[in-house]
Amino acid sequence: ANGVFTFDPGFTSTASCESKITFIDGEVGKLLHRGYSIEELAGKSDYLEVCYTLLYGELPTAEQRDQFISTVKNHTMVHEQIRNFFNGFRRDAHPMAIMCGVVGALSAFYHDSLDINNPEHREITAYRLIAKMPTIAAMCYKYALGQPFMYPRNDLGYAENFLHMMFGNPCEESKISPTLAKAMDRIFILHADHEQNASTSTVRLAGSSGANPFACIAAGISALWGPAHGGANEAVLNMLDEIGSLDNIDTYIAKAKDKNDPFKLMGFGHRVYKNYDPRATVMRESCHDVLAELGVNDPQLELAMKLEEIALSDPYFKEKKLFPNVDFYSGIILKAIGIPTSMFTVIFALSRTVGWIAHWNEMISNPYKIGRPRQLYTGETEREFIPVNERK
Ligand code: SDX
Repeated sequence: ANGVFTFDPGFTSTASCESKITFIDGEVGKLLHRGYSIEELAGKSDYLEVCYTLLYGELPTAEQRDQFISTVKNHTMVHEQIRNFFNGFRRDAHPMAIMCGVVGALSAFYHDSLDINNPEHREITAYRLIAKMPTIAAMCYKYALGQPFMYPRNDLGYAENFLHMMFGNPCEESKISPTLAKAMDRIFILHADHEQNASTSTVRLAGSSGANPFACIAAGISALWGPAHGGANEAVLNMLDEIGSLDNIDTYIAKAKDKNDPFKLMGFGHRVYKNYDPRATVMRESCHDVLAELGVNDPQLELAMKLEEIALSDPYFKEKKLFPNVDFYSGIILKAIGIPTSMFTVIFALSRTVGWIAHWNEMISNPYKIGRPRQLYTGETEREFIPVNERK
């Protein structure tokens, strides 16, 4: 540990408050991780280097980078008994349901050897989670297919290894396209952290009680699953399927504006961004690169871009400051890589694990108090109890 996993008495943290990890300026659409812009990190770095930077606060030297990668590779396998948890699920169980269960179960494998007050235990926990999430995610996919689980390979890069475990089979050597591996790695970077959003705040709140970090990450996975949060990228593709053609866009824009219609434009709007989500910009450009390199012409990209153009010129969306967010284009890239929609949020959870654990560690590594949000009570004032035979 280079100090970030040890106490910093000058910094007091609670479940949801100040942090040094990520900065967002929603008005101008700026996102910084430890001071580095998401555009620079997505264009010049890779996911494991971003993981190091989120955890330790600085870009790694070449030696630190090599050491980090080597340590992550030593933890990519899961205990063989973890396989038994999968067998308890139906084959058609949503992979997010399986991931919630399996990641939470990791608590049972490390609970006794994990003192969250020990900086080295916190550090090894970060490595274990970053290393094992791709293995567990790919196992969720293989289980659904009824195909054998693929073991991780230490000769492959992080994204390449994930695609190997997803699409490889024991009967032949995996052939992973560098283009797809690079696109996958960029997706991981763009989802790595995002300040104290719903799922990260869930992890911090659970962690503030002193709960086992694996259980805290499982809580974050549960919060991320909702369509208003991490489930939106799956919802965007389902929405584009429903819209079907350019002719129907105006109908769906009208639905999105209709207060009596629960329909919302998936992948649009954000609690913080009142300008373009910078991740969406990078994602849209990646769509073009990936589809061009694959020689794929996806009509959904054309539909998404036309939908964006019409929505951004509509007074309602302008007035409400509604712009595409990270989820609007991510599904198109994931589909081009060959990822089924049911796995989209699983990949979001995989990517965001480093952000969750960085925030958890930032809180636990400093003096903290249990989170206890207070409510605004709007119920009855105190009143007398009425015996049942007198109630009307
Ligand atoms: C993520 O917090 C994070 O950082 C999250 C995230 C991360 O990386 O962790 O960025 C990931 O969750 C991205 C968001 C993914 N969700 C979606 O794309 C689902 C569609 N979006 C909406 O559900 C909505 O935009 C939210 C939930 C994201 C935000 O909802 P808010 O808080 O209501 O947004 P707002 O206050 O800016 O809304 C202003 C108005 C409201 O109408 P009024 O009450 O003023 O009349 O705009 C409306 C909203 O109802 N509105 C929409 C809309 N989003 C907001 N109307 C139509 N379509 C939409 N998508």
